[in-house]
Amino acid sequence: MKLTLSVIKADVGGYVGHASMHPDLMAKAEELLGQVKKSGLLIDYHIARVGDDLELIMTHTKGENNVAIHKMSWETFEACTEVAKKLKLYGAGQDLLADAFSGNVKGMGPGVAEMDLDERKSEPVIIYMADKTASGAWNMPLYKMFADPFNTAGLVIAEAMDGGYRFDVLDLKAGKYIQFDAPEEIYHMLAFIGSPSHYAVRAVYSRRTGEIGAVSSTQRLSLIAGRYVGKDDPVCIVRCQNQFPAVGECLEPFSMPAIVEGWMRGSHNGPLMPVSFKECNPTRFDGPPRVIAAGFQLADGRLVGPLDMFDDPAFDPTREQAMVVAEHLRRHGPFEPHRLPMDEMEYTTMPLLMERLAARWKPVEDGK
Ligand code: F6R
Ligand code: MG
Ligand code: MG
Repeated sequence: MKLTLSVIKADVGGYVGHASMHPDLMAKAEELLGQVKKSGLLIDYHIARVGDDLELIMTHTKGENNVAIHKMSWETFEACTEVAKKLKLYGAGQDLLADAFSGNVKGMGPGVAEMDLDERKSEPVIIYMADKTASGAWNMPLYKMFADPFNTAGLVIAEAMDGGYRFDVLDLKAGKYIQFDAPEEIYHMLAFIGSPSHYAVRAVYSRRTGEIGAVSSTQRLSLIAGRYVGKDDPVCIVRCQNQFPAVGECLEPFSMPAIVEGWMRGSHNGPLMPVSFKECNPTRFDGPPRVIAAGFQLADGRLVGPLDMFDDPAFDPTREQAMVVAEHLRRHGPFEPHRLPMDEMEYTTMPLLMERLAARWKPVEDGK
């Protein structure tokens, strides 16, 4: 069955501060998407949240970048913003950067990950949702899943995975993309995706069948707004099993709390901590950054699930390790590498400070 799986997300108001989401916002989204499902535009939907981000997970047959789907999502975020305003929640409508919808939510603030797929006989998918971090956070996990045999045993021993994967890599600053074939080109690819603030893995394809295996949201809020307006808090969809990595191979990369950018004021490096749905309220120094994983089986477009994939004591040591790393970084206070490097701070308060102090910078005198 030809299907589109769309995840469209936005922060439209935090509770309390930027920590979590008030249940009334989720109830509003549930009510509205319920109506859309009845109208027939959606086959199914699931409302999720990670930290202060509202995630609309939807299945339909309209294809990627469909105007009706994007418009309805935008309107849902607008309606939830109204609820947030009434409750005086924090940063109501924060990610809605445009005054009115114009054709596609990409470039308007919300994050989008969508894939057209031919639903297989059995279609397990995992939707990863992160808070307090940036698009690019998926680079290392996607590399490990689809290109690293030390993570994914199937790359070595599964017939169906033979042939490797094609990575679609986006230059976030220049708005260009390039494709790399793994395993032959992994060294060249790593030269780029190892710099996730500049390059992001946008999609991964099976080279054997051409099918899409993964897609991530690559919208960078700061580049859209031209200033700091909150972090991207990206999402990623991964198809699992058979010609793709197994569910356990898709979760394994998160057993190492990789250091990502985000955390307090979107201006700090910190460990990405895999947590259960109920533990995704970043409070310690507004963090540390969190990722949740929602597993579904698709059944003729129906979203059977979710299973809370990180709700497993097997990830307890990872969480403990994440907090050891977090503590060590925190002790650096305002110093790099806890604080982001200067060129990454250009969309925060730095330009203003530079301007204020501009006249006080004097040339270094010769001989002094
Ligand atoms: C990071 C985040 C928070 C805020 C911080 C200040 O993504 O959302 O760390 O940046 O709480 O928030 P404002 O500037 O809204 O007071
Ligand atoms: Mg927020
Ligand atoms: Mg957020």
